[in-house]
Amino acid sequence: MNVSSPQNTPESAALFERARAVTPGGVNSPVRAFAAVGGTPRFIRSARGAYLTDVDGNEYVDLVGSWGPMLLGHAHREVLAAVGEAAAGGTSYGAPTPAEVELAEEIVARTPVEQVRFVSSGTEATMSAIRLARGFTGRDLVVKFAGCYHGHVDSLLASAGSGLATFAVPGTPGVPAASTAATLVLPYNDRSAVEAAFAEHGDQVACLITEAAPGNMGVIAPQPGFNGFLADICARHGALFISDEVMTGFRVTRSGQYGLDGAVEGWRPDLVTFGKVMGGGFPAAAFGGRADVMARLSPEGPVYQAGTLSGNPVAMAAGLATLRLATDDVYATLDKSSARLQEEVSSALTEAGVAHVIGATGNMFGVFFVEDGVTSVPDFAAASRQRVDVFRAFFHAMLEQRVYLPPSAFEAWFLSAAHDDRALDRIVAALPAAARAAGAASDVPAAG
Ligand SMILES: Cc1ncc(COP(=O)(O)O)c(C=O)c1O
Repeated sequence: MNVSSPQNTPESAALFERARAVTPGGVNSPVRAFAAVGGTPRFIRSARGAYLTDVDGNEYVDLVGSWGPMLLGHAHREVLAAVGEAAAGGTSYGAPTPAEVELAEEIVARTPVEQVRFVSSGTEATMSAIRLARGFTGRDLVVKFAGCYHGHVDSLLASAGSGLATFAVPGTPGVPAASTAATLVLPYNDRSAVEAAFAEHGDQVACLITEAAPGNMGVIAPQPGFNGFLADICARHGALFISDEVMTGFRVTRSGQYGLDGAVEGWRPDLVTFGKVMGGGFPAAAFGGRADVMARLSPEGPVYQAGTLSGNPVAMAAGLATLRLATDDVYATLDKSSARLQEEVSSALTEAGVAHVIGATGNMFGVFFVEDGVTSVPDFAAASRQRVDVFRAFFHAMLEQRVYLPPSAFEAWFLSAAHDDRALDRIVAALPAAARAAGAASDVPAAG
């Protein structure tokens, strides 16, 4: 198969060429470059509902949804109206606004946090939450899990050290060793690794941060009780438990992953980070939590944090409109669509003899193209053993049929409430050919 399909994408190809001349790799966030799958990244001209249209006029069913924010689908009429109204009143003041209060109230009403502070990206949210946890506890150590992504914060771009309870090393050039020297990286879903780390370092741990349910190494559900166990071990050692709901927040339930575990089991994270859906497609994110912890934040407390565009009025309007429209009906629709798609993907792959594991938490899911015989993917080591070559074949066969999947095997597939039967039927119709392409690729032994 010709993965670049230049006959369908001359305008995208030309723009990619121009973009590469003026921007590293031609993109403003790496995964958009299609490096993991090869071929020409599609430059998007517009989007509506469940569909994207590229600059060549090809229309795709979108399963990326801007990597999570577009819960209601693209260009939702009421969200656009709220944005238009807000923008007409001026786009930024650098002073408090009513919309910030309303969005904060909506978030506090839906989630376990008592107070929130708005920022402009998920990266800023996790970076600030960690600073606050360190300021609150007077400790430095941060515990995280391999494969959990929390944005490009220096101390969190860390790879595991030589042993489980040893300190991390930088995960990328440009991060000083000193930035990761106070980070411990553990295998996800591994209680004994967490117990060992706390047994050795517990009195120095400021916080443990985890994706509420990982969606950045593919989707991996926490094993039953795992998040509650983390909350408990943090509390026993005087460390804060930070639940990163940037991806899961307001997506898997109206209160995020917390709605599936903490709310049911009766525990709360100390701090939570949010982003994506709560910004309605604009750069808005937040961190929040216990009032006594948040009270340590400037100007009430001594821990400094600020932002020129924090709480931007247009972003607040988009977020507020999105959350108000994210009703129980929306979540019920997403649950149903997701269940149908998971089933259809699995049966098409099974039919074509392609080994796979569906990872899911609530309506958020992804597909691991595993080696034959593998039946579960509990952590990053297992996720890393998947057949990316098989995914690549599947991805391009879907793209040929105008279904736009995340261009990486390690990402969640995002549905929206705008994915109606017509959109879902189009995806389902594309599956058999894509599964056959994956099957052909899986018959070739994995490289290396
Ligand atoms: C769980 C999680 N945390 C944090 C981030 C960083 O957010 P942003 O890309 O807005 O900086 C992401 C982004 O994908 C994420 O998925």
